[in-house]
Amino acid sequence: MVDKFADSLYGSSRGELRLALLDRLLPEMLTLERQSVLDVGGGLGQLAAWFHDRGHAVTLAEPSGEMLARAGEQLGERSVSLLQAPLQALPQETPGPWPLIACHAVLEWLADPRAALVTLASLLAPGGQLSLMIFNRDALRLSNVVKGNLEKALADRLEGTGQRKRLTPISPLTHAQVASWSAECALEIREVAGIRVFSDYLRRPPESDADRERLLELEQRYCRADPHWRLGRYLLYTLVRTDGSDTAVESTS
Ligand SMILES: C[S@@+](CC[C@H](N)C(=O)[O-])C[C@H]1O[C@@H](n2cnc3c(N)ncnc32)[C@H](O)[C@@H]1O
Repeated sequence: MVDKFADSLYGSSRGELRLALLDRLLPEMLTLERQSVLDVGGGLGQLAAWFHDRGHAVTLAEPSGEMLARAGEQLGERSVSLLQAPLQALPQETPGPWPLIACHAVLEWLADPRAALVTLASLLAPGGQLSLMIFNRDALRLSNVVKGNLEKALADRLEGTGQRKRLTPISPLTHAQVASWSAECALEIREVAGIRVFSDYLRRPPESDADRERLLELEQRYCRADPHWRLGRYLLYTLVRTDGSDTAVESTS
């Protein structure tokens, strides 16, 4: 799947747009102090490179050896630690606690994304930040309707099956799920934005550079504004691990 992923997610204007939006949003949404970063399911290494180039010590964890090898090539001379491990093994492999974790576009590929969020929370230091990006199930419904897949939308058969080499995730998530699961593991939602709130619904892709720039400006202007962020193809969160002492006090009172 490495080539398919590289072509369809990054070898396209959608991929470029996602990276351009992240470049603007991550410094706005995270408190960045050159702290160490664990990039979980780091794929081809773009995010690891981004953090590295801003002075962070980065560990990229990725279960696929093929993907990890490609990330190593892309990272070139950068000194990023590469760890071949799935998210589920990270409490043993690299327990931290980490001040900053990134996990982008991974949870929607897992059979149990809720358990994965609990694991990520356990790796965070108190006050630590999790930059979480998930594939938005509500946006998937809208794009199916826009494409005319009415029967599929009405039956709410939106998720991929994991059969054949398709890039429709098996566990697309809703904002409501992220909100309730975060609360369960003492993660507070500090920031949220939609990634590609307009671009995936266009009837015609922009044809000129000027239109591509206009589209980027529109995405940037509305990605954190209600109601638009809610229909971003991906939702980007900053989740902060609240200390835990509050929870302990509440449970004994
Ligand atoms: C859609 S890609 C996202 C890659 C990268 N985070 C990004 O935003 O470009 C999903 C990644 O999750 C990885 N992955 C799949 N199962 C995983 C697991 N159990 N733990 C960690 N990563 C996993 C895949 O190998 C793939 O690199």
